[in-house]
Amino acid sequence: MPKYLEGKRIFLRTLQKSDLPELIELMDDRDTLVLTGSVFPNTEKEMEDFYERCQRTDSRVWFVIVDKEENRIIGETGFLRIFMHWRATDFTLEIWDKRYWGKGYGKEVAALMFDYGFDYLNFHRMAIGVVEKNDRAIKFWKSIGFKEEGRQIDGFFSEGEYSDFVMMYLLEKEYREKKEALN
Ligand SMILES: CC(C)(COP(=O)(O)OP(=O)(O)OC[C@H]1O[C@@H](n2cnc3c(N)ncnc32)[C@H](O)[C@@H]1OP(=O)(O)O)[C@@H](O)C(=O)NCCC(=O)NCCS
Repeated sequence: MPKYLEGKRIFLRTLQKSDLPELIELMDDRDTLVLTGSVFPNTEKEMEDFYERCQRTDSRVWFVIVDKEENRIIGETGFLRIFMHWRATDFTLEIWDKRYWGKGYGKEVAALMFDYGFDYLNFHRMAIGVVEKNDRAIKFWKSIGFKEEGRQIDGFFSEGEYSDFVMMYLLEKEYREKKEALN
């Protein structure tokens, strides 16, 4: 399978139908799913529908993140809701395999996606919505240059309590100013 974007320890390649069983198993962790704002478990049918939608790339580009050494999928990343007229997109990054958390893999993936998004696809703006209680993710997005721009107050409910969705953004200009620090 061709490597589309390659970093030091990981590469990104397109999602294949044959990846779906492995992904369903990797994502089968309710605590992590809650952090990403999901409420229902992923079913095979939904994953297949998602895969089908990924075959049209006018509004989304989706990759699996592969550990080069083990040649194993550790997560997913992509651009969703791409609006080329506005040069704007939502950005998603999920490392499903917990053993890889906090070891710089997220930053490595983000650096590849920023180069691809800003320098190749010509985006002006990227956005992300993060569940407030996902402290790690909020710190992560801030560490790579994202800023809070607003909140959906009580936009999310899990485990008996409401929490906000923190809306964050990164502009091309700000990315270029911070680029050296990321690589
Ligand atoms: C959030 C996520 C993408 C971060 O990726 P990661 O590989 O774990 O993060 P990195 O090791 O690259 O860390 C980058 C920065 O994030 C912050 N960070 C990472 N882990 C952290 C932790 N446990 N506590 C506080 N800050 C943390 C730090 O600022 C860190 O920079 P530093 O190492 O220079 O201090 C990843 O942990 C993940 O996918 N988690 C589960 C799903 C999820 O929450 N996705 C995001 C949905 S919005």
